[in-house]
Amino acid sequence: MTGRVRTAILLSGRGSNMQALVAAARRPDFPAEIALVLSDRSQAPGLEAARQAGLSAEAIDYRGFSGKPAFEAELDARLRAAGIELVCLAGFMRILSASFVERWEGRILNIHPSLLPDLRGLNTHERALAEGRAEHGCTVHYVSAELDAGPIIVAARVPVLPGDDSETLAARVLVQEHRIYPRALKSAAVALRAGGAGAG
Ligand code: GRF
Repeated sequence: MTGRVRTAILLSGRGSNMQALVAAARRPDFPAEIALVLSDRSQAPGLEAARQAGLSAEAIDYRGFSGKPAFEAELDARLRAAGIELVCLAGFMRILSASFVERWEGRILNIHPSLLPDLRGLNTHERALAEGRAEHGCTVHYVSAELDAGPIIVAARVPVLPGDDSETLAARVLVQEHRIYPRALKSAAVALRAGGAGAG
């Protein structure tokens, strides 16, 4: 395939990273386009924000499926139907199965609010504070079957400041998330085209 890399964003919540990716992809020289936004929750605020931005945004409500295999089969079908080549997880709160990840190997990116490999999993800001860390941050990585453990594309550090609580720390990290996720998508899209791979 040629042209801009057709990219889908998967989200479950407010969608601020989605908006950062959309803003970056509006630039004509950006190597990826946001062709689809999907959510496992029909009430996700990010879905409405995506529609307001004029994007194709759909819910695949997890509760309507018998379980993860059926949900993921539908997700896979929608991505393929839209000719999606890269997937960005942006606050998507479901763990994808190993078989789904294998099918999309090297084509799923995730943003995680810690300096990986430290603090995998949930509640990273609370844990960074509880451990008395001096530094925290965020990481964009390729998704592998092991949670928050795939190859790192880019990371950004922030200081933990005296008096921080989880909200102030999360806000400082979020500024960096919005900066690095577009960069990571750009480099993943360029790498995909350089590798000559198309949607299989
Ligand atoms: C971000 O902190 C991201 O790192 C994590 O989930 C949050 C999503 O925020 N994976 P938003 O929906 O992009 O605003």
